Amino acid sequence: MNIQQLETTAQTMVARGRGILAMDESTPTCTKRFEKLSIESTPEMRRFYRDLLVTTPGLSECIAGAILYDETIRQKVLIGTPFAEYMSGQGILPGIKVDTGAKALAGHPGEKVTEGLDGLRERLREYVEMGARFAKWRAVITIGDGLPTRGCIEANAHALARYAALAQEVGLVPIVEPEVLINGDHTLERCYEVTQETLKTVFYELYKQRILLEGVVLKPSMVIAGLDCPQQASVEQVAEQTVRCLLSCVPAAVAGIAFLSGGQTSEQATMHLNAMNNLGKRLPWPLTFSYARALQQPALETWNGNPANRSAAQQALYHRARLVSAASQGNYSPEMEKEAT
Ligand code: 13P
Repeated sequence: MNIQQLETTAQTMVARGRGILAMDESTPTCTKRFEKLSIESTPEMRRFYRDLLVTTPGLSECIAGAILYDETIRQKVLIGTPFAEYMSGQGILPGIKVDTGAKALAGHPGEKVTEGLDGLRERLREYVEMGARFAKWRAVITIGDGLPTRGCIEANAHALARYAALAQEVGLVPIVEPEVLINGDHTLERCYEVTQETLKTVFYELYKQRILLEGVVLKPSMVIAGLDCPQQASVEQVAEQTVRCLLSCVPAAVAGIAFLSGGQTSEQATMHLNAMNNLGKRLPWPLTFSYARALQQPALETWNGNPANRSAAQQALYHRARLVSAASQGNYSPEMEKEAT
């Protein structure tokens, strides 16, 4: 394990003012997002869209790395260079989603466990050959009546730690993503409890599997009320409770924290990140972003499957990335939403 390489890569991923663009939707998820806009989902359309994203002029000012899906890392951008090679040339680290999805957890109705450990060592080696510098594995924790169970949290935390060990073995920085889902009518307080238990369990498993925390980027969800909760929290409450929870659970050695957006709107995800960075607390790790929907949605809607909209869609992505980058430094204000793209 090359400790220096892992630490340097992890620090680059969360360097000040920069974050990560998640564009690693599996084909079924990408198809769902395309279908909402009546865009046909073919390998070529997905390649066109993802080419549009990574070739956005100026993107690397705000984006330190982008997470690809298996299909994309095997494709070429339109000018004929493989995606990973093109991104590296632009100063954007190529990352790769390596889990194979969340599947029903036997004996635990309503809960899931993320799969993908079988053959992972070999797959990781292949991704390194293709130029990947970091990896991602997403676990999902559902809040509901009697949920989550201890069994679900432990199974997911263990899998995350096994994955992280295999990633570090080949020099890939693992993004460790335990997502507490926003779906449901739970309160902010309940989300706090579940996020706390999940993170404490994850870090204990990472410790047991001998993970170098300096070479890890944590990708958590925010502490937020469920989408159907009648009592929605203020931006300040979300920021305060999220940071309080992270301070109580995440060791200072972790290289950085890059949030997922998890179904928040682009504006919400930006405001929450900004508020966290404005709490005036001294934090041991940078707080930045690894958004998919909150970064891509305006660009996807602008593109709408029409090649003529390509450059307008790139401007929409660039604009959004700048706002989120400002939020990662506590410099965002809602008026910036209106600035010309
Ligand atoms: P969202 O920001 O859309 O939640 O996606 C992040 C991600 O990578 C989910 O795995």
